[in-house]
Amino acid sequence: MNSYTITVEPLGREIECREDQTILDACLRNGVWLPHSCTHGTCATCKAEVLDGDVDHGGSSTFALMDFERDEGMLLPCCAQPRSDVTIQADIDVDEDLEMHPVQDYAATVLSLEEIAEDTRRLVIELDREMAFNAGQYLKFQVPGTGADRTYSIANPPTETRRLEFHIRRTPGGVATDGWIFRSLAVGDPVSVSGPYGRFVLHTGDDRAAVLVAGGTGLAPLKSMIRHALENDAYAGHLTLYQGARTQAWLYDVEEMQRLEKEYPDRFTYRPCLSEEIVDGFGSGLVTEVTEAENATLRGHAGDLCGPPRMVEAALKTLMGKRLFPRDIYREDFFDEGDRATGGVRSPLIKR
Ligand SMILES: Cc1cc2nc3c(=O)[nH]c(=O)nc-3n(C[C@H](O)[C@H](O)[C@H](O)COP(=O)(O)OP(=O)(O)OC[C@H]3O[C@@H](n4cnc5c(N)ncnc54)[C@H](O)[C@@H]3O)c2cc1C
Ligand code: FES
Repeated sequence: MNSYTITVEPLGREIECREDQTILDACLRNGVWLPHSCTHGTCATCKAEVLDGDVDHGGSSTFALMDFERDEGMLLPCCAQPRSDVTIQADIDVDEDLEMHPVQDYAATVLSLEEIAEDTRRLVIELDREMAFNAGQYLKFQVPGTGADRTYSIANPPTETRRLEFHIRRTPGGVATDGWIFRSLAVGDPVSVSGPYGRFVLHTGDDRAAVLVAGGTGLAPLKSMIRHALENDAYAGHLTLYQGARTQAWLYDVEEMQRLEKEYPDRFTYRPCLSEEIVDGFGSGLVTEVTEAENATLRGHAGDLCGPPRMVEAALKTLMGKRLFPRDIYREDFFDEGDRATGGVRSPLIKR
């Protein structure tokens, strides 16, 4: 197998990359932190410029990397593989308060798999060794027998380094969910994962009040952040979580969030919201409508949004309407293969 030298500017760092490996993967495994989000060629976050050399663009979506951009020498490092020595120019913006941990492969075992809501499972795995990660990051799971991998956010805080929790929503017809996790995966099964990936993380050096908006299993990375902030004193600002679902049957971990709210009343506020059911104590309407109605302004806050791309986009508009600047909003879109095929590029306003 050939391997090539990748030079990353403006850092001037050189790393080796196999011809069957993506440039992002080689960088993250060698401690070179490139911006990225979906790692599947959908969001365009990682877009960079080829200064020299040839690449194969692999599975880059034609929406995230248009034909004219390919002609102009742009690439998505999360999909591009080298065909010669390559020099790229990347837009590197490392948060000084965060230590980024190199990606590694892990062998894991399924410890538990339980139904927690309609079409939603909690998966707990044990890694073969400890993994360092930041609250909010995710892992890639190899889907057995398919050659495909899928990404799932870690829901526990980074102080729990071997036993990891995930929340997984079933996608009808989905390779990983319908074809594996909701069909044949069982306690005791081996699982191959790699990570940690992503930069949707708890900004531990910040002390602003933050509003967190979760749709469906978008709760997972936010739960990791909330638990880390409260239980490990990792964040000084007040957190308010808006968690949305259609009905109570689709909502999960309500009691755990209510318990945290009771335990940390000055630091955490919890607002579960239902859009198709009216229940005492729950916000009524879409999670974005409740966030909109309950806040005259959010000036000075930070925002963290996670869930299906359409919900994230709507929540982004809501927060901006409440006077948050784009630079103060962080987002994790749960893009899937359908989004890659049909165009799931994120709003150009938000680079985080
Ligand atoms: C950073 C990140 C973190 C994530 N974290 C989580 C998480 O914590 N929990 C969670 O539940 N999900 C999460 N996701 C989503 C998850 O990675 C999967 O995308 C999701 O589980 C669906 O995978 P699947 O293999 O079951 O479906 P896929 O096989 O990917 O199919 C998804 C949908 O796309 C359609 N489709 C497939 N191929 C095409 C095509 N060529 N053209 C048109 N349509 C097509 C399928 O019919 C299906 O409807 C995350 C995604 C990202 C990017
Ligand atoms: S991280 Fe490369 S396109 Fe999303």
